[in-house]
Amino acid sequence: MKIEFVPSDAEVGKTGAIAVLAFEKTALAGAAAELDRQTGGALARAIAGGRFTGAQGQSLDLIAPHGIDAARVLIVGAGAEDKFDERTLELVAASAYQALKMSGAESLTLRLPGVAPAMAGHAALGARLAAYRFDKYRTKEKADKKPSIAKVRIAVDDPAAAKQASKGLDGLADAIVFARDLVSEPANVLYPEEFARRVKKLADLGLEIEILGEKEMKALGMGALLGVGQGSVRESQLAIIQWKGAKDPAKAPVAFVGKGVCFDTGGISIKPADGMEEMITDMGGAAAVAGAMAALAARKAKVNAVGILGLVENMPDGNAQRPGDVVKTMSGQTVEVINTDAEGRLVLADALWYCQDRFKPKLMIDLATLTGAIIIALGKDLGGMFCNDDALAENLMAASKASADALWRMPMPAQYEKQIESGVADMKNVGTRQGGSITAALFIQRFVNGLPWAHLDIASTAWKPASAVPTIPNGATGFGVRLLDRLVADFYED
Ligand code: BES
Ligand code: MN
Ligand code: ZN
Repeated sequence: MKIEFVPSDAEVGKTGAIAVLAFEKTALAGAAAELDRQTGGALARAIAGGRFTGAQGQSLDLIAPHGIDAARVLIVGAGAEDKFDERTLELVAASAYQALKMSGAESLTLRLPGVAPAMAGHAALGARLAAYRFDKYRTKEKADKKPSIAKVRIAVDDPAAAKQASKGLDGLADAIVFARDLVSEPANVLYPEEFARRVKKLADLGLEIEILGEKEMKALGMGALLGVGQGSVRESQLAIIQWKGAKDPAKAPVAFVGKGVCFDTGGISIKPADGMEEMITDMGGAAAVAGAMAALAARKAKVNAVGILGLVENMPDGNAQRPGDVVKTMSGQTVEVINTDAEGRLVLADALWYCQDRFKPKLMIDLATLTGAIIIALGKDLGGMFCNDDALAENLMAASKASADALWRMPMPAQYEKQIESGVADMKNVGTRQGGSITAALFIQRFVNGLPWAHLDIASTAWKPASAVPTIPNGATGFGVRLLDRLVADFYED
């Protein structure tokens, strides 16, 4: 799908659709009023004859009335006029795309006269995110099962200025798509080395990339991460991504650490077959971190940032880690592995320790599809945030509200620490089933060495089999990319 910025009065033609905005409890205005006049009141009549109120999320699809140079006209609800903002415009553009993608219309022209250039980019972003589709492995899909809209045209007063102003958001959309593609990719294609290869391509944006293999990680003492990967024929990798955008190159960076389990069978503590295929998404944290680093680089953020990805595959072969094994982490602390399916925290333990040891960051945020328990606790619309620092937690909540990557703060009560005490090692890797996301967070906290840190459990939000948000098609969401980009933009740039 292509996006173009065109003049407000651009012609549409008989294979195209025109979309115009209507606000709630407000007479038709702008492009909608203009079309209404041209059609002798056809739009107002259509609205009067139905339940369309202009609420955001609604749309009304009309066969183009006589005299209109288009196949159809879509009236899109834009909510209350005084609450109309960038986010609403994204949702409006996305809803318009969703409403018409299977209609047969070949283009969608969203008429936005009077919308400022800086704002117009959000329409493009919304449409791009809505049109995301992971279809590279479909070889026999019939044309009538594919979206018909090949082009979305954002029609504004000054298309050149809008195009220029939308460049930053285009980089953000690329980064979200990059993360969604990684999450969608099956595990026979996307294993740790392939993930690392794709990350290396981000060097084109000016990011510095290093990849460590098993030999280097062994030398560093990363026994926990390596233990997870030892049952796989695929070599474990650690990807290190750096963006140096601050005025002072020596300024302490912000650091993001991602769980990159390219496939999680559970290992010897093997998962049930039903639904196991969803574990191709168990690298959603690493994908979000890689995407966020790409977003920062694309807009040349004035920040020093580090992204660390722990890339492994959790498989049950003859060399696999066993329940009862004791592993030594890079921190020196030992872990009794009670359940090999609680592997994400083992990967994060070494990745976080490495991160703070090498980079001395001012804060660390890890993202991980860590526990099924977070889905039970919060449902599929909220990521769980665990944080040892109230100021960081507040910043994250603000960025969460602004970016629509929704978080809910979770507790880390010290009395649950005893659940992960071990009889043979410094700790064990699981507590009881109840509060499983909390004991996971308490475990990880032991590897942050006192730094301000947040753990985002995104097992709930990284993958949505059925999404109700028009900018998020079913499947990979890209959750976290926008959140981290926004966090940096609002709080951590020079
Ligand atoms: N990758 C899973 C968590 C997960 C579940 C992600 C559902 C996405 C959707 C994680 O490695 C895992 O297996 N967690 C276990 C932990 C348990 C063994 C303590 C779980 O949640 O059951
Ligand atoms: Mn697991
Ligand atoms: Zn996992």
